[in-house]
Amino acid sequence: MDARDEFLEIFYDNVDREGADKFLEWLEKSDFFTAPASTRRHNSFKGGLCAHSVNVYKRFVKLIEGQFGENWQEKVSPESVAIMGLLHDICKVDTYVEDVKNVKIDGVWTQKPYYKVEDNLPYGHGEKSVYILSAFMKLSREEALAINWHMGEYDLRVKGGSYSVAEVYYRYPVAFLLHVADLMATYLDEKVDSEQ
Ligand SMILES: [Fe+2]
Ligand SMILES: [Fe+2]
Repeated sequence: MDARDEFLEIFYDNVDREGADKFLEWLEKSDFFTAPASTRRHNSFKGGLCAHSVNVYKRFVKLIEGQFGENWQEKVSPESVAIMGLLHDICKVDTYVEDVKNVKIDGVWTQKPYYKVEDNLPYGHGEKSVYILSAFMKLSREEALAINWHMGEYDLRVKGGSYSVAEVYYRYPVAFLLHVADLMATYLDEKVDSEQ
């Protein structure tokens, strides 16, 4: 099964929230299923963003089960887990564009395609995902905070001096686990294009 089918299967099996159908319509029209997950780090290939989202979801489910046990659904709903895992990086939709650059391969200048950032909605990262999702469906407090702060210590607001992420992680362990799932998918499950 390719990442797109897997994404849609997880979504349809778990998400039944008001507005989810309109959100999927929007998603299909966006570049979500063809976009990369990054320009030169993890999953920087066509379809990389969707594949990353599925990877994070799978890591997230395992971490939640490890933390809360086999009855984890009593602590956090499968719908919530799917929304947080699959949609945390929806901020990356319509953000990467393909271009070509000249590189020297074996002494010969050659044109190589690459992705560059062209963000038409520069709203931030996690906060942008929450903003986009909130236009379609109502997020719970836990979902909104987890998605908003999924970058953890790498978030630019944290680098600027904000302590909110620690407050959120103490109060919402699920939010911390989403950050860990994102890291595990990125560094353990996904490849980096070392040629770039
Ligand atoms: Fe992210
Ligand atoms: Fe991510």
